[in-house]
Parts: sequence; C-alpha cells; structure tokens
Amino acid sequence: MKKLYIETLGCQMNKSDSERIAGILSHFDYVQTENEKEADLLIINTCSIRQLSADKAYSQLGVWGKRKKDKPNLKIAICGCVAQQDKENVRKRAPYVDLVFGTHNIYELPDLIKKIENNEKVCAITNKPVIKNQNDFNIIRKESVNAWIPIIEGCNNFCTYCVVPFTRGRERSRKPDEIIEEAQKIIKEGYKEITLLGQNVDSYGKDLNDNNITLANLLRSINKIDGEFRIRFVTSYPSDIKDDLINAVDECEKVCKYFHIPMQSGNSRILKEMNRRYTKEEYYEIVSKIRKRFENVTITSDFIAGFPSETEGEFTDTLKAMEELELDYSNTAAYSPREFTKAGKMVDKFIPEDVKYKRLERLNEKNREVCLKSNEKFVGKVLKVLIEGKMEKDGKINLNSRADNNKIVHFESDKHNIGDFVNVKIKKAQTWCLYGEPIE
Ligand code: SAH
Ligand code: SF4
Ligand code: F3S
Repeated sequence: MKKLYIETLGCQMNKSDSERIAGILSHFDYVQTENEKEADLLIINTCSIRQLSADKAYSQLGVWGKRKKDKPNLKIAICGCVAQQDKENVRKRAPYVDLVFGTHNIYELPDLIKKIENNEKVCAITNKPVIKNQNDFNIIRKESVNAWIPIIEGCNNFCTYCVVPFTRGRERSRKPDEIIEEAQKIIKEGYKEITLLGQNVDSYGKDLNDNNITLANLLRSINKIDGEFRIRFVTSYPSDIKDDLINAVDECEKVCKYFHIPMQSGNSRILKEMNRRYTKEEYYEIVSKIRKRFENVTITSDFIAGFPSETEGEFTDTLKAMEELELDYSNTAAYSPREFTKAGKMVDKFIPEDVKYKRLERLNEKNREVCLKSNEKFVGKVLKVLIEGKMEKDGKINLNSRADNNKIVHFESDKHNIGDFVNVKIKKAQTWCLYGEPIE
C-alpha cells in the first residue's frame, strides 16, 4: 500500500472533491494518512477565490518541495482552482511538482497516477470536463455524520469580482438518478445528513433540458428515502430561489429550514457593478418571504467590503442591510482583485487597502452584533439538533451539535452520542453559538 496525504483549501466543493480523489486513488492501492511526513503522494487541493488563498497553495508547495531532498521518490500534485487557473505556469513557480490536474480532470486520475509513478511530469488541464458515473468509484468521506453530494458544478453568472466561472467552467448538473442512488447509499451507510452542493445549487437542472429536473423536485425525491436524516443545500443565488423551491422546503420534513443566500452588497448600484441579477429591494423581498413562511428559519449571507468604486455611503447600506434583514450569520471578506475578472481590471477604481480593511472591520463588528441578536432570539426555545462531536472534560461529556437551522449548540449529556438527534432547550446565547439542555 502507498500513502496519500491531501490538504484541502477552499469551499465545500473542494472538500467533496478531495473525498472523491481519495476514493479514486483507493482503487490504486493508496491509503489516506493524516501524517503528511509519511506520505508517498502529497496532493494540495487549492482555492483561488482571493489572492490570500492562492498564495497559501504556493507556500505549502514550497515546504513540500524541500522534502524531495530526503525522499526522492516523493510525488507532489496540485489540483483545484489554482491549478485550473495557472495551468503549466504552476511548474514555473514550483518546478518540483509532478502532477497538475484541473477541476475538470479528477476522473482522469487513474491514467494520470500511472504516468507519475513512471516518473513522468504531467499537466492535465482541460476546459471540457471528463464526466464519469461517480457511483463507479469509492468515496472516502471525512465527516462523521454529514455527507456531501455535489449536484451541480460550475457557474454561468460571471459576477465581475469572481474567478469561479473561470476555474469551474459552465454549469453542469448530475443526473437525478445518479444523485438519488448516491443518497440511498449514504443513508444505508449510516450518515445522518446530506448536503447537496453547487456553486449555484438552485440552478440545478437548468442545463438538462427537462422542466421536471429542479432542485425542488430533487429535494422531494431524497426526502422520500427511508430513515432518520436531514437534508441541506448550499449555495443559493438570491433571484433563483423560486416559490416552488420554498414550497419544497416546506413540504419536505427532512429538509432543514435554512438558506444560505449571499447578498454581497446592500447597495443596488454596487450590485449592478458586480453583475448580480437582483436589486437590494428584491433581496429584501426574498428574505421577507422566507421569514414569513418558516418559524425558526435562519438566513445566512456573504458580503464583500470595498468593491471597486464603493463609496462610504454605499458601504453603509451594506451595514444597514445586515441589521435590517437580521441576517443570522455572514461570511465577510475584503475585495481581492482576481485575474480574468472584469472588476480586476477596474484598477483606477480600487479602494485603498487601509480603507478596505477598515470597512471589513466594521462589517465584522456589525456581523458579531447581529449574530448575537439572532442567537438571543432562540433562548427559551427548543431546537432539534444533530450531534456532530463529543469531548470529555473534567469528568463531564460535552457535545457539539448543529440545529436544523444550522445554529451551533453545545450541551452536556452522558446519554447521547455522535449521530443522535436530540431536542435541546436553549438556555444561553453567545455570538457564535448556543448552550442548552437536552429534554426527554
Ligand atoms: N456562488 C456563490 C458564492 C461563491 S464564492 C454566490 O454567488 O453567492 C464565495 C464567496 O466568496 C462569495 O460569496 C463572495 O462573497 C466571496 N468572493 C468571491 N470573489 C471574491 C473576491 N474577488 N474578493 C473577495 N471576496 C470574494
Ligand atoms: Fe462567483 Fe457569482 Fe458564480 Fe457565485 S454566482 S460562483 S459569486 S460568479
Ligand atoms: Fe475556492 Fe474554487 Fe471553491 S475558488 S471557493 S475552491 S470553487
């Protein structure tokens, strides 16, 4: 057996890809190790969303490259969004890399791995995805209770700041039968949560030319699988959340009442500059529709501070939106110029670094404030949670869990285990989590 170590940066799609890469390589006698020092093959699965994430990839490669001196047979591979973007240029910066493979080439690995074992240097990047039935390969899942299922990959939206359409290509949906088969297998294996993934998950099916293939109908089909488990889906594009999807979330008891809908900016002019297909008012309407429909629902978002040309007043609209919409949590970032993108070329409109980072700090402060408010709303309520982790401390057993609405809940109990669903009465709220007591 040969040992494989994978370092995964970036989003959930990358986490899922890494599980599939480890699965494919397991057919070729590679077993995964958590100790990178004993690996025969090192893979870094990279993210290019911001410059900082791309830089991380190259600095890790630098550290690994030095190891080849003591271990000449060590193989190093890079994949993911930085690989797809930089192609053979990767080797100019990191000549010791044996294999560069893109986001479209994962299912070519059986051939690629043989080549590097024969000491060839390989760069496999295409713009045409190599598509295989994913159920023909092992998947080595890393999480204990949650299983990722990618259902649609790629993006057709071309938001002006974003590199994803260039690194993941156009939208491609997997066939519903293949997804449902994977879901059935996951539940049989004992997983308690399925998270359906897509850069724009609510675009699912649009490329398959069949009006019945939609995220809403896929949720209905997975909901019918026997067993106690729950279903999530991320990430939703605001204007693609149609009534049928909201109806499906309502009808399906296993689907969590939780929506991740990145707003990006609270100002309509900036949204237009970003090429987002909705106005501030339309986003407000979607949030209000969802809040009216579901009790205890949570809505989370992403925001960018300091997009090119953003004025102080326009930035303040973002702070206002976070507060007025009572968003339950937001991911925040300072705008980072990306290669190939439209906004990346608006150099004369870039916001000075110090102003950008000050805005990010204020955004984070507002985020903390509204998150705490959101958490406080749940004190006294009972939430159904799924236990994800367990830790013993001072003779007491502390459990980490997540409620259906994605809130993190901690409680003590020696009667429950990882994978159990428990009703917990919330006693205390902090900025990032809740504390409670299990009820019988
Ligand atoms: N498909 C999702 C987002 C995927 S990228 C959507 O449309 O909302 C994840 C997040 O990274 C984005 O929501 C955005 O907030 C952030 N992001 C993307 N490009 C960025 C950039 N150039 N600089 C800073 N943040 C960026
Ligand atoms: Fe990027 Fe926009 Fe596509 Fe999201 S919708 S992945 S932000 S281009
Ligand atoms: Fe990063 Fe690629 Fe995901 S750029 S966020 S790893 S799609």
